[in-house]
Amino acid sequence: MSNAPVITMDGPSATGKGTIASLVAKKIGYRLLDSGALYRVLALAACEEGIDLENGAAIARMAPGLKIEFPGNGRVSLGGRDVSGEIRTGAIDESASRVAALSEVRRVLLPVQHGFRSPPGLVAEGRDMGAVVFPGAKYKFFLTASPEIRASRRYRQLLDKGLDARLPDLLRDLRARDRRDEQRSISPLRPAKRAIGIDTSQLTIAQVVDRIMQVMQGRCQGGG
Ligand code: C5P
Repeated sequence: MSNAPVITMDGPSATGKGTIASLVAKKIGYRLLDSGALYRVLALAACEEGIDLENGAAIARMAPGLKIEFPGNGRVSLGGRDVSGEIRTGAIDESASRVAALSEVRRVLLPVQHGFRSPPGLVAEGRDMGAVVFPGAKYKFFLTASPEIRASRRYRQLLDKGLDARLPDLLRDLRARDRRDEQRSISPLRPAKRAIGIDTSQLTIAQVVDRIMQVMQGRCQGGG
């Protein structure tokens, strides 16, 4: 594995983590790893192949044969097909969280995630980036927000896309996903050692990015 510097950003869904990680990566010229997208693509491929989502061994066997690419601008492709929209549905939210609880799946994705580390550096975003995948990361951030705020952010996003949504359903699903992510035996969602916590409930995306940049000020560009 390369020894390029890594910055990790972990936390539950709808904390703004994905957007924030992407903005920080762009500002400092680092690569971006959206690890959740890997779990989402595996869940989609397993569904399409008719593999039971509890069958970790079968999903792990399928994974190395998949051609997953990130062509830029947050797009994700599977075998050359753009699946960016398909992996962001409510059904895949649920399936990805189930697939992510399987130890065989997490094991097979570990070297894939390490492969993203290359000069000048990597911003890695997910649940266990700082605790498990890149424990030696230079800076580790853990983003949170209250479940109500996160559900209402998701609600607004869906309405903006012209999709139908009910706030109480979103809140219930989000709490269920949090519970599954926090209580699984392997790589549960929790702050890594040395992680700097940021509660984004009352902050804009720009304010969170500023706070992160202040923490790293002058120390992550061109540095080890
Ligand atoms: O971040 P995102 O919502 O796209 O992640 C989808 C699912 O993948 C999450 O619900 C979580 O269960 C899982 N995940 C994970 N570890 C990561 C990233 C995501 O378990 N590093």
